[in-house]
Amino acid sequence: MSAGVKVSEPGMEGSVKKEEVYEAAKKMMGREFQTVLAALLKILPDYEDMLVENLVRPFILKDEDYKLLMDIMLGEFNKGLGKETNPTAKVKMYPTYVRDVPDGSENGNFLALDLGGTNFRVLLINLNGQEVTMESKIYLIPQHIMTGTGEQLFDHIAECIHKFMSNHDLLKEKIPLGFTFSFPCKQIGLNHAILTQWTKGFKCEGVEGEDVVRLLHEAIKRRGDIDVECLAVINDTVGALMSCAHSDRDCAIGLILGTGTNACYIEKLENVELWDGDYNEPKQVMINTEWGALGDDGCLDFVKTEYDRQVDKHSINPGRQIYEKMISGMYMGEIVRLAPEKLRKHGLLFGGKGSEELSTRGRFYTKYVSEIESDVDDHFKNTKQVFEELALEKYSDEDCRIAQYVCSLVSTRAAFLASVGVAALLNKMDRQDVTVAADGSLYRFHPHFHDLMVEKIQQLVKPGIKFKLMLSHDGSGKGAAIVTAVANRLRESGKESIGENGLEN
Ligand code: GLC
Repeated sequence: MSAGVKVSEPGMEGSVKKEEVYEAAKKMMGREFQTVLAALLKILPDYEDMLVENLVRPFILKDEDYKLLMDIMLGEFNKGLGKETNPTAKVKMYPTYVRDVPDGSENGNFLALDLGGTNFRVLLINLNGQEVTMESKIYLIPQHIMTGTGEQLFDHIAECIHKFMSNHDLLKEKIPLGFTFSFPCKQIGLNHAILTQWTKGFKCEGVEGEDVVRLLHEAIKRRGDIDVECLAVINDTVGALMSCAHSDRDCAIGLILGTGTNACYIEKLENVELWDGDYNEPKQVMINTEWGALGDDGCLDFVKTEYDRQVDKHSINPGRQIYEKMISGMYMGEIVRLAPEKLRKHGLLFGGKGSEELSTRGRFYTKYVSEIESDVDDHFKNTKQVFEELALEKYSDEDCRIAQYVCSLVSTRAAFLASVGVAALLNKMDRQDVTVAADGSLYRFHPHFHDLMVEKIQQLVKPGIKFKLMLSHDGSGKGAAIVTAVANRLRESGKESIGENGLEN
């Protein structure tokens, strides 16, 4: 190639376009050869596309992108809080009717339901000041129920409550129940929550637009063999916040990074234009942001990759929960799978030979990302184990390195995107010291998520704001019990009617 075209080896700086090769060759070769070369170039992939780096580069965002995203998020929070702008806002900022963090005096026995995370659980919780004891059992929700009818879902839940109570010899008792229902709900009281739309893997007919507590009570009544009343319904983010605030009064944000992602925070009533409760002390309320829906109006399109678009397209709720789909555990494995699949098709991984498993949608679990990134040396023990589980027959150490690289790009982007939301909340609240209660399988099990988030949030918050990111233990159980305890105390003292004013003193 002496005609002024520089050709470099794969992996080296610089590259040539196919047109350039052809133009150079034209000056050197006869017409017949040119025709053959033109045909050959047509079927060859672009050299640029042959580099691993180029195929995964879209996952790498610039610092300015994250800063811009934080401003977008802030704008969306304000839009959701405004009376005029809320109807068209995608981030809905639902007031929760939970007004204050616990004071530690909550006590008694409570049942709790936890629906919407990795597992469905029934819990029995005893609160005694700072002492909390808990027993719980996981019950499976079969796929056909997750996408069946609402009646089937709530009958199944009531059946699980019955089983749990029977196993714990509680059938003759009347125990107040708190329901952690982790989906977007418009609350009209502490125990009235209208589901606005299903998210994550659920899509049960006849529930959207309905009060889920009413549906639960109806299912309990249909059975007629348990005496349970639900006094409070909360989001898992509120559970995380309450549970952590039980021991840390600075806690003002609840964050979930699990199957889905979302956050709640404490907002001053004067900023909540849609607040329809009273204005007594404390003049604040927890807001369930439902930030997973950021981007549903296209505002994240500038950072979406082709992999994100594919994941969205094949989900059960296309076009919805865009921010959530770029971050959370339900989708991360699939984003990662699509990238190696593409690399493999280009002959850049596994010698071009894949497996049925690697080609199957949903078969690359998000826990693999954590496992692969937990390998710290060149033995790649976990990575090779994952490759075995995916029935990949031929892989080299370089393949392990590439897989690890792809996982780290996707998880780092997720951690940084989640940081954008947390930083936006911290800047909005503008308190000096804030503890963020974080929970969820992704946050819990990924080896670097916490550290990556601390690094990014630090870069994005206003100077002077100090924050701690703390693992919140069992918020969905303990948090529900705490809120229920307060509701129960108010009810017993006849001070408040549940469902009107919620939890204030
Ligand atoms: C989804 C739900 C939200 C929940 C989150 C984490 O985003 O809509 O309510 O908090 O998942 O579980």
